[in-house]
Amino acid sequence: MKGLLLFTIFSLCVFQKIGADDAQLLKDGLTQFLHTGLFPEYLKDVSKYHQIDSSVFEQLSIGNLSSVVTCTLCDELANSIISLKKIHTPDIFLKNIITKTCKTFKVEDDRVCNGLLGPIIDVIFYIIENGKNVTGPKLCSLLLGPTCHNQFDYFNWTVDVPPKPEVIPRKVISGDDKIRILHLTDMHIDPRYTPGSNAVCGETLCCQDDQGIPENSEDACGVWGDYRSADTPMKLLEETLRHAKAQNVDYVYSTGDIIPHRVWSTSRESNSELELEIMDLLRDSFDVPVLFVLGNHEPHPMNMYAPLSINQTSLSTKWLYDALRTEELAEFPDERGLGKIEAGGFYTVLLRPGFRVIVLNNNACYTENYWLAYEDYDLYGQLAWLIEVLSKAEQDGEYVHILYHIPTGYKSCLGTWAREYNKILNRFTETISGQFSGHTHADEFFLYYNISNPAEAIQIAFNGASLSTYVENNPSYKIYDVNTRNYRVDDFEEWTFNLTDANLYPEKNSVDWYKLYSFRETYGLSSLDPIEVGRFVEDLAKNKTLLEIYNKIKFRMGTGADKVCDDDCHKANLCSIVTAELGDTFHCERIKKIYEDNNGKL
Ligand SMILES: *[C@@H]1O[C@H](CO)[C@@H](O)[C@H](O)[C@H]1NC(C)=O
Ligand SMILES: *[C@@H]1O[C@H](CO)[C@@H](O)[C@H](O)[C@H]1NC(C)=O
Ligand SMILES: *[C@@H]1O[C@H](CO)[C@@H](O)[C@H](O)[C@H]1NC(C)=O
Ligand SMILES: *[C@@H]1O[C@H](CO)[C@@H](O)[C@H](O)[C@H]1NC(C)=O
Ligand SMILES: *[C@@H]1O[C@H](CO)[C@@H](O)[C@H](O)[C@H]1NC(C)=O
Ligand SMILES: *[C@@H]1O[C@H](CO)[C@@H](O)[C@H](O)[C@H]1NC(C)=O
Ligand SMILES: [Zn+2]
Ligand SMILES: [Zn+2]
Repeated sequence: MKGLLLFTIFSLCVFQKIGADDAQLLKDGLTQFLHTGLFPEYLKDVSKYHQIDSSVFEQLSIGNLSSVVTCTLCDELANSIISLKKIHTPDIFLKNIITKTCKTFKVEDDRVCNGLLGPIIDVIFYIIENGKNVTGPKLCSLLLGPTCHNQFDYFNWTVDVPPKPEVIPRKVISGDDKIRILHLTDMHIDPRYTPGSNAVCGETLCCQDDQGIPENSEDACGVWGDYRSADTPMKLLEETLRHAKAQNVDYVYSTGDIIPHRVWSTSRESNSELELEIMDLLRDSFDVPVLFVLGNHEPHPMNMYAPLSINQTSLSTKWLYDALRTEELAEFPDERGLGKIEAGGFYTVLLRPGFRVIVLNNNACYTENYWLAYEDYDLYGQLAWLIEVLSKAEQDGEYVHILYHIPTGYKSCLGTWAREYNKILNRFTETISGQFSGHTHADEFFLYYNISNPAEAIQIAFNGASLSTYVENNPSYKIYDVNTRNYRVDDFEEWTFNLTDANLYPEKNSVDWYKLYSFRETYGLSSLDPIEVGRFVEDLAKNKTLLEIYNKIKFRMGTGADKVCDDDCHKANLCSIVTAELGDTFHCERIKKIYEDNNGKL
């Protein structure tokens, strides 16, 4: 899945276990392998001698490795692929080597090595051949993030924000009533989900019709889903829509990832068909507007959102923008803001006088979207457009909700994009009333702070958790209570059910949904004002009991909640809340210190 990381990962697991001499031998061997496609005998011996088996790869995470070694190797390997391309090494030859390495070392399972890697390599080759300034270190700054290179050395663009007016007009008179918004995200609908099939399949996604029947009945996939690597059966989607419909909501936000994790067998045709089917189903299920956001799983191959200048059918993302446009146009026939869907999958709609929604395609910040190395400046001009729309909304006295898939402070969201986005948030904070995201499948929220006064929290973004259990979660959705004075979220509740319990009664045709919690009640808050939530996060850092609750809710009491959350786990949860820009550790360090000062010697 990680393209060029294949070599790096292999080399590193080996390097960790062996001495310098053998390491050199392995490095030479790999280089030879890379150039000839032949696996040197001595390399096999070294691997065998050190008893390196596939479990090493399973336990491996980049975070555990020495970042200096990882980075150097990544640079070297990326550079060697670039130079091999430059001397016109046939694509098929290079591709075979990469795929073979992937399989030999079980970096991914065979079907992922064949099915996903192939199309992703095509993208990488195109970028290397046609990109203006594509170097090994630039690619590695995307792949490995700030631990490898300062991303700002390769991506340091800015967008201009206009000065703030003296007063912001509120032409629109707001009401005293409330609206309710349903947030349903990361559905990952799996048409091939098969109850009774193998949940311990050893592939990226299990419970597939072509993975056989398990020997042990404990390993069989349930009727409503499975905590192990499984996505959402159609039956569960239908049950969810039935239940959510009765909640009487005014709007539905769907923040991306409709396509399942069967990442090895996506195609433009099958993705497009499923996207349209599910979007239609949602629109038919609710009498109210449904706003769809694009996730990283929507394109083929996954993650790859091409710049508009890329118009070869095999690489372009236009088909996806067309599908989204068809759906949203059916919902909002008169909306001019929808025109931007064709220009990169983002759009804006005035939902009612004074209340606007802006839908971003922030896969434009996702560092696993390798096109970022090709077009390294505000992809699609999206942030410049965001500023334009916000300026207009400000002039018109509107309040705005912003929807996107990837939380902007996430570890795979380009630091440059996140920094500029945060700048925009700071500038337009009176106009922006809410932000809603997905992607992490975790119930969590994010705080943004005043850039010139870091003690002051100014904005909150809510993550919608996920309908998919992938992995270890109970399926869930959220309902927000939003006031019509300033369209801020007053409170939200989350609905879920116990999957283990539901699967015990396969003959029942519904599940026992229950309200897991409401945010304000559970955490004792009088409002969701950012300043108050900012104070709450500091209390959270001081109180292990609360942190335990937070972590269990993160999985909606799924099997992930049964695992011990140690100090590092709590600190990671806290840092995730307060980090708005990749590479900016100020708030993370601050909150970790509060945790450490209040939770004994660590
Ligand atoms: C990025 O740009 C900013 C302002 O334009 C500058 O202050 C900063 O030094 C640059 N960073 C790098 C790493 O070049
Ligand atoms: C390519 O990138 C390097 C490193 O960021 C930079 O020094 C150089 O000026 C860039 N060249 C072009 C043509 O953009
Ligand atoms: C594809 O893009 C290239 C370069 O941007 C342009 O010259 C060409 O006319 C485009 N072709 C089509 C069919 O739009
Ligand atoms: C940030 O703090 C400064 C100084 O206190 C203030 O002038 C500014 O309005 C604040 N910005 C936001 C977005 O609240
Ligand atoms: C879910 O249901 C199972 C089976 O009834 C039960 O053992 C488990 O404790 C329940 N989990 C939670 C979090 O209530
Ligand atoms: C920690 O949070 C729990 C749960 O809300 C609460 O009962 C307890 O009083 C808190 N402890 C402290 C020291 O504030
Ligand atoms: Zn997802
Ligand atoms: Zn995602």
